[in-house]
Parts: sequence; structure tokens; C-alpha cells
Amino acid sequence: MMQLRGKTVVVTGAASGIGAQTAEYLKACGATVVGVDRNPAPGVDRFIAVDLSDPVSINDAAKEIGAGIDALCNIAGLPPTRGANAVLRVNFLGLRALTEAMSGRFNDGASIVNLASLAGLGWPQAAPAIKALMALRDFDGLDDYCREHGVDDARSYFLSKETLVVWTMLNRWTWRDRGIRMNCVSPGPVSTPILDDFLKTLGARAEEDMKVMDRLGTPADVAPLVAFLCSPQSAWIRGSNIPCDGGMYAHVLTHTYGFE
Ligand code: NAI
Repeated sequence: MMQLRGKTVVVTGAASGIGAQTAEYLKACGATVVGVDRNPAPGVDRFIAVDLSDPVSINDAAKEIGAGIDALCNIAGLPPTRGANAVLRVNFLGLRALTEAMSGRFNDGASIVNLASLAGLGWPQAAPAIKALMALRDFDGLDDYCREHGVDDARSYFLSKETLVVWTMLNRWTWRDRGIRMNCVSPGPVSTPILDDFLKTLGARAEEDMKVMDRLGTPADVAPLVAFLCSPQSAWIRGSNIPCDGGMYAHVLTHTYGFE
């Protein structure tokens, strides 16, 4: 188990699923955990309520979190059934706004870990939409953005995660002078309250994926990897996207390029 004694770690999405499990695991590793969620997160050392779809709430939360943070785990997220506007707000614009609002107050050597997804694997094919989303600073511009780029509810989830993967890579050295790094973790299907929402949207494609998987992931499969990325032992891992998916990334990639 990672040793995180003396470290203070902020976990968004700490009220449920992967975020709740990560908060518990980090505490077991000795960290002090600040849970950030729109719903109460029992079991964390300090809880701060935030609506990650609202820039005002995000700035207030960043102020309340304050300084002295050693790691930020951006885990809160919405499934595609919640609609394109909300999905892009919470999964990318809100995540970025919180990270940027906190960045000046991180401790040197801090680690930022973003929960992306296997759904982000198509980023090389989506450069124009990703660049335009990264250029969007006004949360209220999302409806126009979705219209211009033909982003419907189902597509919005993939796009949010593709953008998160690219944004993570682009931030590999943003705070290198302070030893601060950013990485992301990409799980395959994990058994949490939002899994049914994914399956509803993905339909036949999800059924195909499930046929080749021996089992679903659990939050406990993902939490230790997030904790490792928070720890000083992972200091040279920067701008990486690490799959945690029972082999699905390897499966899809080898099939895509004809290595059957
Ligand atoms: P979950 O629904 O169990 O937890 C999501 C958490 O985010 C909840 O506590 C919720 O209250 C919080 N949240 C949602 N909207 C918010 C808002 N506006 N403001 C503040 N908090 C908000 O979901 P799960 O499965 O634990 O997902 C965690 C992350 O993992 C998400 O980013 C998701 O996209 C990602 N992921 C999940 C997979 C799965 O199959 N469950 C697969 C790959 C990635």
C-alpha cells in the first residue's frame, strides 16, 4: 500500500463510486482527504459542497479548499444520459476550472490525476472539436458549441473524455518548475451507479464489449492506481494516460490496427 502520511489530497466525486472508493483508499494510505462533491461524502476528513457545472460555485470551493494541497483527484463526472451541456460542463469545463483555480496554491511536487475513460481513446480522430472545446472559456457558450460541432448527448461523453486526455498531455510540463505533474487514468466499464446509463447510450457496442470482457471493473480496481499517481513514487510519470480496463484498451487497439 502507498504511503501518503502527511499528504493532503482533494478528491472530487467523493460521494459515490470510484471517487468514494479512492477517498477511502487514500485515507487507508495515511492521507488527509478533502472530499468535494455536490452530494455529501461521508468518511472524508473535510467535505466541501460544490456544483462543478457552475463557475461561481467552483471558485468558491477553490477558495474554501485553500492552500497546502499535495494532490487533486478529478473524479466527479456525468454519464451521457445527463445531456451534452451538463456532461461537457462537469466532465471538462468544470474540472479544468477547479484545477486552474487551485493551481497557484498547490504544494510543490503536487500531483493532479484526472479520471478519463476508455471512451477517450478516439482523441486522435477528433482534433478540431477538441481544440474548439479547449478554447471555450464561457460555460454559457456550450449550446452554440454543440450545435456548431454536431455534438449530441451520446457524443458529448466521448468528447469530454477525449478532451481530458489531450488536455492532460498538454499539461505535462505546465508546472514542471514546481515539480507538479498531471496524468489521467482511463477505466473500462466499472460497476458503479452510472454504469447503466453508459450501457443505455452505447447500446449494441457496449453489449459487444461485454462479450469479450471476463468481468466488469470495480472501484477497488481503480483506486490503488489513482493513489499511486498521487504518491511521490510516480513523480516521473507525466502527461500519461494509463488504462485500467481488464485489457480492453489493448483489445480495441490491436483489432483497430489489424493485429487480430
Ligand atoms: P458515480 O455516479 O458513482 O460518481 C460520480 C460522482 O460525481 C458522484 O458523487 C456525483 O455526485 C459527482 N458529481 C456529478 N456531477 C457533479 C457536479 N455537477 N458537481 C459536483 N459533483 C458532481 O460515477 P463513477 O462511475 O464513480 O464515475 C467517476 C468517474 O469515472 C467519472 O468521471 C466517470 O466518467 C469515470 N468513469 C466511469 C466508468 C464507469 O464505468 N463507471 C468508466 C470510465 C470512467
